Amino acid sequence: MAVTAQVEFTAEELLADAPTAEPLLAGGVRCHGGFDDQGRYVSPRTRFRVPAIEAWQQRHVELFAKPVVDVPLETWGDNFPNVEQARYLIGAGVPEPLIATLTRIGTVEGYGANIRLLKPSNLQRFFVEDIRGSAIDHLGRGLFEAHGRDEAGWEPEPGRLEAGHKDMWFAARDIAFENPTTGLDVAAMLERMGFGQGAPPGLEAPRQLPADVDAELEFMVTLMIRVLFIEVSAFHTFRWAEAWLSDADLVAGEGEAARLVSYIRADETPHVAYLATAITELRDRTWLGDDGTKHDGAEMIDTLWQHLLAASLGPNRQASRQAVVGEVEHWCRQRPNGDDLLAEFHSLG
Ligand SMILES: [Fe+2]
Ligand SMILES: [Fe+2]
Repeated sequence: MAVTAQVEFTAEELLADAPTAEPLLAGGVRCHGGFDDQGRYVSPRTRFRVPAIEAWQQRHVELFAKPVVDVPLETWGDNFPNVEQARYLIGAGVPEPLIATLTRIGTVEGYGANIRLLKPSNLQRFFVEDIRGSAIDHLGRGLFEAHGRDEAGWEPEPGRLEAGHKDMWFAARDIAFENPTTGLDVAAMLERMGFGQGAPPGLEAPRQLPADVDAELEFMVTLMIRVLFIEVSAFHTFRWAEAWLSDADLVAGEGEAARLVSYIRADETPHVAYLATAITELRDRTWLGDDGTKHDGAEMIDTLWQHLLAASLGPNRQASRQAVVGEVEHWCRQRPNGDDLLAEFHSLG
């Protein structure tokens, strides 16, 4: 059945919204997505994108008899700080580290839009097997662009912004803490957490694959795997944020901030799905080097996968933990009982 399902889509189709009855507004800002006539949230750009991903997955399984790659959420541990630590800080009158964390998450979401800069075309030359009717063949024809728009928003016409995840996290923060950034130096906060001027760190990595494999192909697949790991591990962050942002006794907004996070979470599902699909398709194909040398796709993907998973579970996780600890210390130390606050914070970890 799947082989006869539609597997060719235009970029316009992959970027098309499903019909909605009401737009999504976050703190007065017009966002992507909306609500159907039952009041259920509808993620942006899912009219064709979601059925397309399902069709590509089914087709792949039928043609290659291999399953779509699965990335268990349990690969990563719970969010740091945990829910109790978040509650403790807010209750103790030190909300700034949470404000900083929500700002950091929104900023990282915005960086996720960099994937739209890849714009690959003519990827067939890198593979032995046909790529027509696959997610790979649609990466540069709608999929990366849809992903980028979801993360950072876009302007459907000049001057009219349709906000994405970056601004939705900032809105959640501003709703929960009642516009806290008016009295805070956000730039200094981001600087302390390791965000300098310019591009996000770590995009220029040494090559992992054989030298005859196209460098831009390796760069693209590296970014895809890295983003897939970020996307999956982010579900821990959503669960964490929704747990305390939904508490009307703890933060402002009567649960509105948590609802915004639940919409962001819904939007991430097609991101995980299309990346997992395309990575699977890459894994099960034969790659062609510059000189025509053939490489087993499973080896190529496994090499990058192991390398990036180690980085995600090791130094990347450590760095983000350190950024949070630094911010907690920075703000607790400005209180007269800072050492007690810190000791209690860590004891809840
Ligand atoms: Fe996102
Ligand atoms: Fe995402």
